[in-house]
Amino acid sequence: MLIAAAVGVLGVVTAVIVPTMPAGAAASTLGAAAAQSGRYFGTAISAGRLGDSQYTTIAGREFNMVTAENEMKIDATEPNRGQFNFANGDRVYNWAVQNGKRVRGHTLAWHGQQPGWMQSLSGSSLRQAMIDHINGVMGHYKGKIYAWDVVNEAYADSGGGRRDSNLQRTGNDWIEVAFRTARAADPAAKLCYNDYNIDNWTWAKTQGVYNMVKDFKARGVPIDCVGLQSHFNSGSPYNSNYRTTISSFAALGVDVQITELDIQGASPQTYAAVVNDCLAVARCAGITVWGVRDQDSWRSGDTPLLFSGGNKKPAYDAVLNALNSASPDPDPTPTPTPTPTPTPTPVPDGCAATITTTNSWQGGFQSTVTVQAGGAAISAWTVRWTWPGGQSISSLWNGQQSVSGSSVTVRNAAYNGSIAAGGSTTFGFTANGTAATPTATCTSP
Ligand code: XIL
Repeated sequence: MLIAAAVGVLGVVTAVIVPTMPAGAAASTLGAAAAQSGRYFGTAISAGRLGDSQYTTIAGREFNMVTAENEMKIDATEPNRGQFNFANGDRVYNWAVQNGKRVRGHTLAWHGQQPGWMQSLSGSSLRQAMIDHINGVMGHYKGKIYAWDVVNEAYADSGGGRRDSNLQRTGNDWIEVAFRTARAADPAAKLCYNDYNIDNWTWAKTQGVYNMVKDFKARGVPIDCVGLQSHFNSGSPYNSNYRTTISSFAALGVDVQITELDIQGASPQTYAAVVNDCLAVARCAGITVWGVRDQDSWRSGDTPLLFSGGNKKPAYDAVLNALNSASPDPDPTPTPTPTPTPTPTPVPDGCAATITTTNSWQGGFQSTVTVQAGGAAISAWTVRWTWPGGQSISSLWNGQQSVSGSSVTVRNAAYNGSIAAGGSTTFGFTANGTAATPTATCTSP
């Protein structure tokens, strides 16, 4: 009626139409353009290239999400069993955060790029190593990662079933164990299943992963997102049913993230189609391209990326234009409420420690121990407790343990001894026996 009245008075309808975007407000970088609709636009970053100023100039300007291309993988972060190394992962992480970008974690449980010690494990000891690895890495980056590729490439190329691997041979439930462990380790991170060749809706592999996600949702296995790697080439070309794939996964109640996009030959039309398909689905949260310039690509001979040397390719303009024509944030996805971390009673000085059970099963359990500094910063800590009923630690991360009978002593790891006044850190362990939360004491020198 108001419109009718306005038309009656003014004689034009345009007078009451509110524009969806201010005229002339097109963004000039990929990240800013994607942000107009509440999405991100990211790239893979390689620590070894951070000294190349052409690379960092482009990456710093254009992208607002970062994935470490190799530096957070299993071989990089746990080169020897129980010995974590975050030097290069932290280089990528710190560069990203110092330049205002968020970070996707890639990847925790995968048959690829396993260190030698893990390749040679099997059965329950591999299962335990997988759990320990997830806890160690997610513990280090706790609260800092937007989304983790918890499990990577677990499906076979054809047939729609699981890929054979040492992880698969530990039992078909390895994927859900990985996701449950990941949720307990960092409740603030979105947890993704990531794979290639699940872009074409008609392919058996796509249907296999779709059925797994559907089953996880039905049974309450924690999963928040599906990563479509989207490495498109002549053997695995873009198909216009990609939009159906994205919307079908989204309809299961997960976000979809395009995680490793590259397109052989970088056709501007195909790049625009991919972007438009993501923009068409509210739960398509963002797009990451797998490298900055063609020369940085793992498939550099395919010239599949958006930059050549310092220059924007035609595909770049196609992507930017598509992002700029998106309608504003269609349906912002609420972020899941993180489970609150227990806060130990503050102490005037020194430190305090609290043990909480985060997971338990027949014959075992998993705990997180929060170590909190009192009124002054500390540079080292020691936590002690006594098991009440014969429990024993099977593995511990983010700390160094020594055990004598039922008495446990845990000292800080090399990288988490320093805690600011009032701040806290955590370590964790899995143990055999009935879940117990004994009172722990904390001392700092
Ligand atoms: C690739 C990297 O780009 C290469 O540098 C490395 O040599 C091998 O791995 N799927 C994935 C990514 O999940 O981790 C892979 O990255 C590409 C395929």
